[in-house]
Amino acid sequence: MSYELDKLNEWMWSYRAARVLHVLSGLKVFTHLEHKPMTAEALAQACGAPSELLEKLLTAGTAMGLLEKDGSLYRNSPLSREYLVEGKPLYQGHMIGHAANVWDVWTDLPGKVGLRLSQKEDLDAHRNFICGMHNITTAIRGNLFLDVIDLSGRRSLLDIGGGPGTYSILACQHYPQLKATVFDLPETIAIAQNVIAQHGMADRIATRKGSWDTDDFGSGYDAALLSNVLHGPTSRAPMKLAKAFSALEPGGLLAVQEFLLSDDKTGPLIPALFNVMVGAYSQAELAAEIERAGFVEVRLVARDDAVGSAWLTASKPA
Ligand SMILES: C[S@@+](CC[C@H](N)C(=O)[O-])C[C@H]1O[C@@H](n2cnc3c(N)ncnc32)[C@H](O)[C@@H]1O
Repeated sequence: MSYELDKLNEWMWSYRAARVLHVLSGLKVFTHLEHKPMTAEALAQACGAPSELLEKLLTAGTAMGLLEKDGSLYRNSPLSREYLVEGKPLYQGHMIGHAANVWDVWTDLPGKVGLRLSQKEDLDAHRNFICGMHNITTAIRGNLFLDVIDLSGRRSLLDIGGGPGTYSILACQHYPQLKATVFDLPETIAIAQNVIAQHGMADRIATRKGSWDTDDFGSGYDAALLSNVLHGPTSRAPMKLAKAFSALEPGGLLAVQEFLLSDDKTGPLIPALFNVMVGAYSQAELAAEIERAGFVEVRLVARDDAVGSAWLTASKPA
């Protein structure tokens, strides 16, 4: 990633780490940890916070270097010991509390200059979400996909929850023999059709409107892509993997891109922050889900922590 893109990415998302710091400090996690390491459950009890969400925040705090983790026990890092424990001479918790208190100034800022930011449920927000996937794949993630996912000899790619269709476009541009089908919700397919047409790929990339909650994905594909649609235990990954398995021919290739936590859940930072917002598996957890669906030869083929992207491949038995 270029220095400029790296900076843009940092600035567009920097509020996430800020909020993790505000919350962990506000809950006095570091003060509770001053005298002994504690598990997430014990900390949740001490702080009066729900343990599942607190554990995600602790993973993010560990990835940020505020905590250290040994087995299931968390302890303060040297940074936290010096600055984040109440009563220490260089304690910064009140300043962090002040920074959290003025948060609303920044929330209200767009409205004050007459900018109406789209709300989560409206069509503009959906367009930003889907076209944002196109932005990030075109500028940042697409090269890694082409470097590590080998579609030589494959004829038909099913791009499940394919969003704007960018991975299908890149794949079809790179592999002249390949055709692709983007499966997604009707409102997303409307965007994908435009993006596909703009890239002159409408003759090679079909679209299929549907919902993975209620529809199957069709059949006869020799490759399937699940890119950023298996976001941790609440993402109904087993159902999506089972439908992908059914849609593939024997010997079919599965390629999965995800935000992946390390198996000890101490990071990396980008997946750890994404896990607070949405959810993320560890590498071992995701590989186990893929195997449970019947796939074999599950392999991690790439992991770029600066981008927060990891790729796994697997096969449907021949
Ligand atoms: C994070 S985006 C990933 C898009 C694309 N695969 C990529 O990596 O750029 C998640 C996609 O899942 C789609 N999606 C959400 N719910 C869905 C559902 N019930 N059925 C099918 N697709 C769905 C969204 O419309 C969106 O395109």
